[in-house]
Amino acid sequence: MSFRAIYAAPLALVTLVFAACGGNEPQPTSPTGPQGTATAPATTAAVAPTAPAAAVTAFRDAKGKDAQMAYMQNQVQGRMGKAFQAHDGKRYADFSCKTCHGPNYVEPKAFLPKLTMKGGNLTAFAEKPEVSKFMAEKIVPEMAAAMGEKPYDPATHQGFGCGGCHAIEMK
Ligand code: HEC
Ligand code: HEC
Repeated sequence: MSFRAIYAAPLALVTLVFAACGGNEPQPTSPTGPQGTATAPATTAAVAPTAPAAAVTAFRDAKGKDAQMAYMQNQVQGRMGKAFQAHDGKRYADFSCKTCHGPNYVEPKAFLPKLTMKGGNLTAFAEKPEVSKFMAEKIVPEMAAAMGEKPYDPATHQGFGCGGCHAIEMK
């Protein structure tokens, strides 16, 4: 997949920097003033090579692979790592891009287990109630915020939900 080829190389750097800063992440909202850049730790400068990437506050506004990767690195990885680790520190001790993108760095929908929609409900809530509850209550709102989206609203069917990460099969 071209997806893999595009960021397989920079990933080594990304992983290295992430390991070096021990999971610390920049503030969710990027500093806008020049003093923000001046006082930022050296690691932040190293992972945010381009000014436009640092200014973007929603993933959909990150244009191009470099900007998308910088956004993931700065706004998604650390924040979501904390959310997963708060639920199970052992299981998610090695949280990384691969937790969502898989060992071959594909899109999350191609890696994560497919969910099934039957009669208007996701079967996962009956089949795997504990993990589904955690996903719905913790992961969806946190990821929506990290992506700069509103969380899924069942009334309007708008917003970032399970289908933002998992493929959903209609039955
Ligand atoms: C918590 C889950 C999660 C983590 C961790 C994560 N991503 Fe993502 N990533 C996503 C989702 C969801 C999308 C959006 C996919 C889509 O548009 O369907 C995405 C999209 C992307 C894209 C754009 C994909 C495309 O459509 O071409 C890139 C590049 C990317 N991520 C790189 C990374 C890198 C590099 C890391 C580690 C620093 C990372 N991601 C960590 C969930 C994650
Ligand atoms: C940020 C991306 C993301 C979102 C949004 C998300 N999930 Fe997940 N989901 C994951 C990841 C990553 C895993 C793998 C966790 C693991 O391996 O422990 C997972 C695993 C699961 C599993 C376990 C599958 C299995 O076979 O063990 C279920 C069930 C699940 N998710 C349901 C849901 C439901 C239901 C929603 C919406 C309420 C949802 N997920 C939203 C990322 C996401």
